Amino acid sequence: MSTNITWHEGAVSKEERQSLLGQKGLTIWFTGLSASGKSTLATALEQTLLHSGISAYRLDGDNIRFGLNKNLGFGPDDRTENIRRIGEVAKLFADAATIAVTSFISPYRQDRDSARALHEAAGIPFVEVFADAPLEVVEQRDPKGLYKKAKAGEIKEFTGISAPYEAPEKADIHIKTHETSVEEGVKIVLDYLVEKGYVQADKLKKTA
Ligand code: ADX
Repeated sequence: MSTNITWHEGAVSKEERQSLLGQKGLTIWFTGLSASGKSTLATALEQTLLHSGISAYRLDGDNIRFGLNKNLGFGPDDRTENIRRIGEVAKLFADAATIAVTSFISPYRQDRDSARALHEAAGIPFVEVFADAPLEVVEQRDPKGLYKKAKAGEIKEFTGISAPYEAPEKADIHIKTHETSVEEGVKIVLDYLVEKGYVQADKLKKTA
């Protein structure tokens, strides 16, 4: 617990920063089972945004666990801490007027809601995207062979097998990834961003 600390305001307001950089920051939060397509969608979305000249940065569950969160495992408390940290980091990127694109299983509704609350308290948009594929489908895909290992008892507390996944009840965007191509999925997210005024349509059309 830190004590005796004081918040320092910068000389540039959020609005001024956005106007100087010509874009708004926000967080696009993908949630879903392992192998549900979160990272695939996040990667394609990041690429499309960047190719349109819009700053975007992806935070990926597996990748972040190589560094920032390498001291965390997969028990409930560690997952909560994983998501708490990522919520904070994504908010920093978004505050810097970048589009933060996160792809974490983030299995607990309360943890995702906390990440949302953190953003909303700072006036930063938070878009929850449910990458929804049935367990049978992700088990079939099993690109890393993890479901097989989890079922054999070689991996403990594996989401969907021996640990819970609390599906979103009112995600901002719901993509059934087994029925939707990656291109369609990216378009669904981009259309939402344009509709909400987070991204300008002409900016996307020019270069995407
Ligand atoms: S989260 O639950 O804390 O949000 P996160 O997205 O960071 O998880 O990491 C999930 C990735 O870690 C999976 O895609 C998988 O590659 C790997 N992994 C290793 N062990 C587990 C486990 N027990 N449960 C889920 N994913 C695991």
